[in-house]
Amino acid sequence: MKKLNFENTTILITGASSGIGKEFAKQFASKGANLILTARTHSDLMNLAEYLESEHTNILIKTIPADLSEPNGARKLYEKISDLGLPVDYLINNAGFGKFCEFSGESFETYHRMLMLNINALVELTHLCLPAMKDKNSGGIINVASIASFQPLPYQTVYGASKAFVLSFSEALTGELLDTNIRIMALCPGTTESRFMENANADTSKMDLAPASEVVRSALIGYEKNRIYTVSGKMNYLMSLIPRLVSRKTTVRIVVNMFKESVLGKVA
Ligand SMILES: NC(=O)c1ccc[n+]([C@@H]2O[C@H](COP(=O)([O-])OP(=O)(O)OC[C@H]3O[C@@H](n4cnc5c(N)ncnc54)[C@H](OP(=O)(O)O)[C@@H]3O)[C@@H](O)[C@H]2O)c1
Repeated sequence: MKKLNFENTTILITGASSGIGKEFAKQFASKGANLILTARTHSDLMNLAEYLESEHTNILIKTIPADLSEPNGARKLYEKISDLGLPVDYLINNAGFGKFCEFSGESFETYHRMLMLNINALVELTHLCLPAMKDKNSGGIINVASIASFQPLPYQTVYGASKAFVLSFSEALTGELLDTNIRIMALCPGTTESRFMENANADTSKMDLAPASEVVRSALIGYEKNRIYTVSGKMNYLMSLIPRLVSRKTTVRIVVNMFKESVLGKVA
């Protein structure tokens, strides 16, 4: 299989200001890729760009602030990229957020923003970027799903369902592109060091958080191997297999036992 070479390619990374997205930016920069970094907080993107440009003199970095939970957020971002005349050879659909809570404990407005970001923006950016990849018969997409993608997630109901969508969508798209050189992969991280858990209002006292650098390293190994999905971490991989071994109801009960006390305890 031909080894991937990211040198001089242009890679669009959403959610690049923090955590896993920031780490994707660092690791792709060290492979000589030009980057388009986006998130809402422009100051964080500019600080990252400045740091990466000082470390790697041979790459170009553009920063574009965008709120991808807004209607047309993805389209407006893509128009700005087109206006700059930049190609998107690879797309890393990474931006996303979740909430640890009972379903009724969060406003519909929050769920709406979550679905717009975790699903709509990801699908729309894919829809906008894929035609040029098809024309060139090269490039590809990594969609950041989660180990939440493999089973329903009581106490993160909407988040879990959004990540199940990301895995299903990515794998289906891989099927349509099997005869091309375009690679689509879903990355399924387990709990990872980033701002995610704090923003999700999660109790992390009993969680093992993997460094984002390890998650991205395993993503790039999986992508190189042309995997349809990659679960980062051996334990996470084993956990992702549980729903194949027990009934769906048992799976749900296992997840309830994992989260009920910490989520309801935190609310109380
Ligand atoms: N951390 C984990 O345990 C974990 C586990 C499995 C999967 N994941 C997934 O990994 C991905 C990255 O999360 P992370 O862990 O790196 O969390 P993070 O540190 O919170 O990063 C999230 C990124 O998304 C951006 N973002 C948030 N809302 C946005 C919006 N409305 N429009 C545009 N950008 C937005 C954030 O920047 P701004 O706030 O500046 O916009 C930030 O750059 C997410 O899809 C998440 O679901 C995380």
